[in-house]
Amino acid sequence: MTSNPLNILVVGAGMYVCGSGTEGFGTILPTLVQEQHQGKVGEIHIAATRPKSITLLLEKLDQLNNRMNTKGRIHVYPYPGNEARDEEAYKKALEVIPRPAAAIISVPDHLHASITEHVIRAGIHPLVVKPLAPTVKEVKQLIRLLKDYQLYGAVEFHKRFDAANLMLRQKVEDGLLGDICYVVVEFSQRRRVRQIFESWVARTNIFQYLGVHYADMVYFVTGARPLRVMAIGQAHSELSPGSYDAIQAVVEWQMESTQKRFVSTILTNWIDPDTTSAMSDQKIMVVGTKGRYQSDQKNRGVQMVTEEGGIEDINPYFTQLYRDNENNLNVHGYGPHSIRQFLTDVENLEAGNISLEELETLRPSFQQALPSTAVLEAVNISLAQNSQWIDVDLSRK
Ligand SMILES: NC(=O)c1ccc[n+]([C@@H]2O[C@H](COP(=O)([O-])OP(=O)(O)OC[C@H]3O[C@@H](n4cnc5c(N)ncnc54)[C@H](O)[C@@H]3O)[C@@H](O)[C@H]2O)c1
Repeated sequence: MTSNPLNILVVGAGMYVCGSGTEGFGTILPTLVQEQHQGKVGEIHIAATRPKSITLLLEKLDQLNNRMNTKGRIHVYPYPGNEARDEEAYKKALEVIPRPAAAIISVPDHLHASITEHVIRAGIHPLVVKPLAPTVKEVKQLIRLLKDYQLYGAVEFHKRFDAANLMLRQKVEDGLLGDICYVVVEFSQRRRVRQIFESWVARTNIFQYLGVHYADMVYFVTGARPLRVMAIGQAHSELSPGSYDAIQAVVEWQMESTQKRFVSTILTNWIDPDTTSAMSDQKIMVVGTKGRYQSDQKNRGVQMVTEEGGIEDINPYFTQLYRDNENNLNVHGYGPHSIRQFLTDVENLEAGNISLEELETLRPSFQQALPSTAVLEAVNISLAQNSQWIDVDLSRK
């Protein structure tokens, strides 16, 4: 129990917040309900745009409270009974939410920068789901704004909290793989995913949606600087005319310490059959002069077969609800971990126990998100320019 718990504003009420469009509860809502139950979070305010999203959110909250045996309470915007769509409902929440407060922004990618700017100007620390923003210019503006307001901003790059990736980083740091030559990533999802966010699917693409996670992971693991990018894509299916089903990106990186170069190939798609045994299929392989690290991040060794769901490969380490040894049905995994870490960091910052400078280097801070956005922007330019090689510009004003 904290004496003056943080109040949290969530902007967005979609799949990642409460599992809308799925059977589940997403990641953000269960984590916050649990933290509120344990007294670490005070009020929870959630803003969407459509009253229909709020109705669904409240249904999910009821189901979640039943399942977790909690009494999670939330304030919602637009207010129930208000029938009009309101793109700016979150601004009302910013006015009324009691301080100290932090915000979690989980809206379509193209809205991240403008909504985060309002959050910062209201004096509130933001956690933004990936990608921080689609362009370097936006990321740089947000970094400047954070500095002006002396706030902490982080990106919810939850793969940085996955033990398999932390282990990889350690092996690289210990020199066990030698000089890295190449990295291969394959990351894909079921085709129904892009139908869930149909309304904004044309404003993103599969590299921006999935590939950016591993652009950040390569940076996190190696600390290398992205130099140039080439990307190519295919749009063969009828699912979303004109948008790529699959994108392959080649990125050349340079190690800061040795100046040696290596290449990552990141292969992404969102057309896996809905009958595949997991929502996400993902693997990373790192090959160096002295060794190789292979991590199959789909096949974690847990498989379930039921009459209801068929064969499922379960990732027990991402967001999962299960009863723990204290007999509480809690939400576990590296998804909730990344959110809790942000809340703890903000508390420690407010209490003077950690500095902004420390957080900027230790965490997926806005500063740390610059390389992933620079890669993503270069991928988008390469796709628009017939797969030409594009120099990665980390200094775009
Ligand atoms: N789905 C995932 O597993 C996942 C994981 C990590 C990050 N993300 C990121 O989360 C973000 C949202 O993705 P999603 O899958 O939840 O999408 P979604 O389409 O299910 O939800 C988007 C939500 O944003 C809301 N919204 C749009 N404009 C708004 C505004 N002006 N004010 C308040 N709310 C607004 C919509 O009402 C909707 O509730 C994306 O940037 C995505 O990349 C998603």
